[in-house]
Amino acid sequence: MSSTSSDVWEVLSTARTIRRFTDDPVDDATLTRCLRAATWAPSGANAQAWRFVVLRSPELRAAVARAAADALAVIEPVYGMTRPSTDDTGPVARNNRATYELHDRAAEFTSVLFTQKKFPTASELLLGGSIFPAMQNFLLAARAQGLGACLTSWASYGGEAILREAVGVPDDHLLGGHIVLGWPKGRHGPLRRRPLRDAVYLDHWGTPADSVLEGD
Ligand SMILES: Cc1cc2nc3c(=O)[nH]c(=O)nc-3n(C[C@H](O)[C@H](O)[C@H](O)COP(=O)(O)O)c2cc1C
Repeated sequence: MSSTSSDVWEVLSTARTIRRFTDDPVDDATLTRCLRAATWAPSGANAQAWRFVVLRSPELRAAVARAAADALAVIEPVYGMTRPSTDDTGPVARNNRATYELHDRAAEFTSVLFTQKKFPTASELLLGGSIFPAMQNFLLAARAQGLGACLTSWASYGGEAILREAVGVPDDHLLGGHIVLGWPKGRHGPLRRRPLRDAVYLDHWGTPADSVLEGD
């Protein structure tokens, strides 16, 4: 099991996606801390027009599993994914194996649907800006407590209609995203990311910011 951490830099740099979980249930106190951390996120005008739906009943888990299967069918050709053979131990096969395990076992885990009320003046991207920070806070709180989590696209594609109907989400709310939770079989971190200098410009588009980026 991954260890807990209260060091914000360790949490930030090791909160990698976990897709393989033990059979141990996530207790309510741990889940509540993740949900509380989500409410500490910023939102436009501090409107906090989010609703987080814990999906735990057999009926809702079955709906999540259908949404997961739909998402898998969409992403398999996009990422060129196939089920790896049992003797393939390369990094791509291991990653794909974990992805298939998560999608195949989707009905076994607690997950959370993140919704955001629509406002006529705001674009969907701007509304997303009021729910994505809550999701990131949730992920970091999960990592801090040693929980594993995977942000999914299961509330998109065909899964959007499935989850909307199963949960009864009103039409004036967007589905911002969905996170599966569990106790990790593997470990957290470290994250693999491109060099910082590839992501940062100085003043003008395309101008390297090397003079700003000490130690990178
Ligand atoms: C918007 C979004 C949708 C995602 N959807 C899925 C998904 O449907 N299934 C899955 O296994 N991982 C999904 N992921 C997880 C990403 O694959 C993962 O965050 C990314 O590969 C980085 O991996 P890391 O967190 O281990 O560094 C999603 C992530 C994001 C941000």
